Amino acid sequence: MGEGTASCPADASPLALTAEARGHPTATPEDLRLAFRRHASGVAVITVPSPAGPVGFTATSLVSVSARPPRLSFNISQDSSSWPALTRAGHVGVHILHARQEDLAARFATRGIDRFAQPTSWRLGPRRVPLLDGVAAWLVAAIDQRIVVGDQAIVVARVLHVGLDDDQRPPLLHHDGRFHGYEGPFPGSALGVPHA
Ligand SMILES: Cc1cc2nc3c(=O)[nH]c(=O)nc-3n(C[C@H](O)[C@H](O)[C@H](O)COP(=O)(O)O)c2cc1C
Repeated sequence: MGEGTASCPADASPLALTAEARGHPTATPEDLRLAFRRHASGVAVITVPSPAGPVGFTATSLVSVSARPPRLSFNISQDSSSWPALTRAGHVGVHILHARQEDLAARFATRGIDRFAQPTSWRLGPRRVPLLDGVAAWLVAAIDQRIVVGDQAIVVARVLHVGLDDDQRPPLLHHDGRFHGYEGPFPGSALGVPHA
């Protein structure tokens, strides 16, 4: 048994035990932050049409929610400069980045710049949604729900259009506060269980 689990009852996680031992009713924000630094994710850019010009931000919170109908979700901070436009917009663009696009990801997470100025290359797509060029995949989706959770919101959207890059390039990953490339599957590794 590992060090962190030595005195952990069978029905309690080591993290819950740690939080109780500290006198907290739940884990702390720092516990959550440290755990999620170990969670690797793909990187997306969300774009939103707005009368004042397009807005957008980098997001790792993208989730494929359901297949029938095809729905996705992402989280946005209500402090984000993109939130006011998202409260009014009917549609969003979702862009899945490939491994050589860390500059684009960094640009769409940088405060106080015009994220759509050169060198960003973009065009207006279906439903007048701003679409970024050269990404691994893009989706245009109609916003169904905005679910407020504390200072965040979960946006659920129905996918209407999908574009796929011809080259199947490896994805951009984010892990432990940094962007990473992808080294590919382990030789002979098992296939993942298909999504229901
Ligand atoms: C790797 C990475 C992932 C991010 N994921 C999210 C996210 O899922 N939701 C979100 O609201 N902001 C996310 N952000 C922060 C936004 O991209 C952006 O930096 C933040 O909203 C501040 O920008 P603002 O000037 O638009 O307010 C992420 C940033 C980085 C670098």
